[in-house]
Amino acid sequence: MFHLGWFLGSGFGIQPWSATNGDGPWAGSNVHDWMKPDIYIDLAKNLERAGFDYILIEDTAMVEDSYQQSAETSLRRGFMAPKNDPMPLVPLMTRATNHIGVIPTVSTIQYPPYLAARLYTTLDHLTKGRVGMNVVTSVTDRVAQNFGYDRHLDHDERYTMAMEWIDVVKQLQGSWEEGAVVADPEAGIYADHTKVHPIDFEGEYFKSRGPLNTIPGPQRLVPVCSAGSSMPGRRLAARYDDTMIAQLPDGPSARKYRDDMRALVAEEGRNPDDVKFMFIATPTIAATDAEAVEKAAAAKEWKKSDKAVEYNLWNMSYTSGGRIDFGGIDPDTKVKDIDLSKQNGEHTSIANLFGGREEQTLREVVSTSFQIGDMGLVGSPDTVAAKMGDLMDEIGGDGFLFYLPTTRYNMAMVADGLAPALKRRGLTRESYTGGTLRDNLLQF
Ligand SMILES: Cc1cc2nc3c(=O)[nH]c(=O)nc-3n(C[C@H](O)[C@H](O)[C@H](O)COP(=O)(O)O)c2cc1C
Repeated sequence: MFHLGWFLGSGFGIQPWSATNGDGPWAGSNVHDWMKPDIYIDLAKNLERAGFDYILIEDTAMVEDSYQQSAETSLRRGFMAPKNDPMPLVPLMTRATNHIGVIPTVSTIQYPPYLAARLYTTLDHLTKGRVGMNVVTSVTDRVAQNFGYDRHLDHDERYTMAMEWIDVVKQLQGSWEEGAVVADPEAGIYADHTKVHPIDFEGEYFKSRGPLNTIPGPQRLVPVCSAGSSMPGRRLAARYDDTMIAQLPDGPSARKYRDDMRALVAEEGRNPDDVKFMFIATPTIAATDAEAVEKAAAAKEWKKSDKAVEYNLWNMSYTSGGRIDFGGIDPDTKVKDIDLSKQNGEHTSIANLFGGREEQTLREVVSTSFQIGDMGLVGSPDTVAAKMGDLMDEIGGDGFLFYLPTTRYNMAMVADGLAPALKRRGLTRESYTGGTLRDNLLQF
């Protein structure tokens, strides 16, 4: 069996809303209603019916303006803005469900660790143990500038800082020993002060006294997720993650990645089976194989349109950390003549986009490359279910993170088409056996 996750890639932000963005005709009333709770609650209910482990909520706190040195494209087309804070969504989604986990993103440059430890422990209580934290270091200068920096820290240093940040959060969440809460009204004792300890943390980036001023939640240490696949990103994941997101194009590369990561986890003195590696994919599913192949071909064709090219150039500028304005480069420039070394954002994403394409032009890259691909998952629900089973055998295990536009059409396709086909094959859970997100991850 394998695990399933869903990447809510637009965060608590504007969801698919316009056919001009390639969203198809399934956007419903998102343009007016994306900031209301309904679609997120529908998503949680549908995916719980489908047996998913969790929903990962993206977050990025900025209005991007590195593309053509202007926020015009971001705001005109609704790219990554507007966007609400994801944290208040979590209790709403879990209140309407019983098992599925929700993992909102937290940036180590936005939240001081004490604030994050307290917030996630509070959410752990409110969700009865179904919250996790997707720890990111933030990608662009624009986020950093919203939180007091002149420009963002260098890529690798961000991970050093993030590791220290997680240490502080974990120590705070562990600052109440087991048994510290007595809760005995007869004796008039709430807590045993000998079991509640300051942490007196003093590091290079953070200082916190502790203890946390709330009691441990059902999961005690809130599960950690991360998605950075550069070497420092992998080290962070190996040390701390309960689930890690990996971006790979196919089975063999995913297998190697998982084997390498499991070895790194073991080097950290941890059991590799305690970390679930989730391979991100955008499957193309339709009623029949022929229809799905046609749909995938149309998506490929759409990549060549002016609207798609604009989006991809915009996205590359963001992904570079705002350091390269791809809107200011002649699209007929060869990749080898573009100075990619200036990037300071998502190293793995840039490598996925440009890797092995040095002789191609920027125009060719943007109209054909996929930062996140389908891993060959194209077909009817039955076909995709079978392919997922084969692919997982090839990879060696763990699961998939779906990255699909959040529309009710896609929810139904997955929950009522694909999920029954997966369950019939015994590939995914029939039911949940535990109550928390950690229980979901460790169920098998
Ligand atoms: C599925 C997925 C979700 C991500 N979510 C966020 C996010 O919500 N906010 C953010 O700032 N970065 C996010 N990132 C970016 C990662 O945290 C990281 O910066 C990126 O994967 C590049 O890491 P690398 O430079 O170590 O390769 C996400 C990446 C992936 C693949």
